[in-house]
Amino acid sequence: MKDSFGRNINYLRLSITDRCNLRCHYCMPAAGIQSQHHDDILRYDEMLRIVAAATTLGIRKIRITGGEPLVRKGVIGFLEQLAALEGIEEIALTTNGILLADYARALSDAGVNRLNISLDSLNPHTFNEITRGGELKRVLAGIDEAEQSGMKIKLNMVAMRGVNDHELLDFAALSQHHPWSVRFIEYMPTIREQQWQQRIISGADILVLLNKHYQLEPLTSDHFCGPARPYRIAGAAGTIGIITPMSEHFCGSCNRIRVTSTGQAKSCLMSNENIDLRPSLGVRQQTELIDALKKVICGKPEYHRLGSDPDSTTPFSMASIGG
Ligand code: 5AD
Ligand code: SF4
Repeated sequence: MKDSFGRNINYLRLSITDRCNLRCHYCMPAAGIQSQHHDDILRYDEMLRIVAAATTLGIRKIRITGGEPLVRKGVIGFLEQLAALEGIEEIALTTNGILLADYARALSDAGVNRLNISLDSLNPHTFNEITRGGELKRVLAGIDEAEQSGMKIKLNMVAMRGVNDHELLDFAALSQHHPWSVRFIEYMPTIREQQWQQRIISGADILVLLNKHYQLEPLTSDHFCGPARPYRIAGAAGTIGIITPMSEHFCGSCNRIRVTSTGQAKSCLMSNENIDLRPSLGVRQQTELIDALKKVICGKPEYHRLGSDPDSTTPFSMASIGG
């Protein structure tokens, strides 16, 4: 379905839990965020109803997010049911990779085509600091397993000045030998941690650095490519992407809506307005549910102002919405 600005909305990001087994600095305060009460988290059958309703409006691609989606019990069974829904062409999942070694095969068998793995450092110590306790080798083992099970892999690296910017070239080099898409994401001050201003590196600066060392060829975006501007190092097996939510919003080509684990539909990550889907989740309420989702799509704002005016958005944790 088209929104009021002519964008074709065919992509739903569904957060299945707000819980996470990491505590990344840019996402949460050290104490974590207040978890939602179990009873407030939608059941899987309710989530399936939402997706089924969304397919009638032209949603074809689903991304499962968290928190960390693999910490929720029963996730594999849920994905199998999701894959069986009519109209779903692609299922992707975003994970921090900590539990991936155990789940990769089952995810692939359940019908997950693509994985986005968040990885901000290749140095065990830095990784441990950024995630407040994460073990890098578990993620690397997870990536290995995922590759062997045949899923398409994207690595997401949030670039932060003074934290991991000295690793940008190492990350880019990963795309030379692996058929992965390595994506550099501009740091967003979503929780306004201290000194966030100093952390930001623009996509333009990242490109300047990469171009000094590698011959980057711009690629044309395919239609499920998302917000990344794609490049390839000459002769590389994989690709590189630059995602610039701060310096250059990509709202004009945004094709997505979101639903949180508590059933709040959001037309934009940065929007403070939610539509509560819970009153429309009864077995006989599909028409109401479809109408609620239509309202979400119609209310999608033209663009967000996090880059130009951070104060216009309320601080939030990505874990509570799904990155
Ligand atoms: N800035 C940029 N990216 C973020 N993510 C989470 N919080 C932020 C932030 N403040 C990313 C994660 C992951 C995806 C889910 O969102 O690193 O790749
Ligand atoms: Fe880190 Fe993602 Fe967990 Fe947030 S939800 S703490 S970004 S792994």
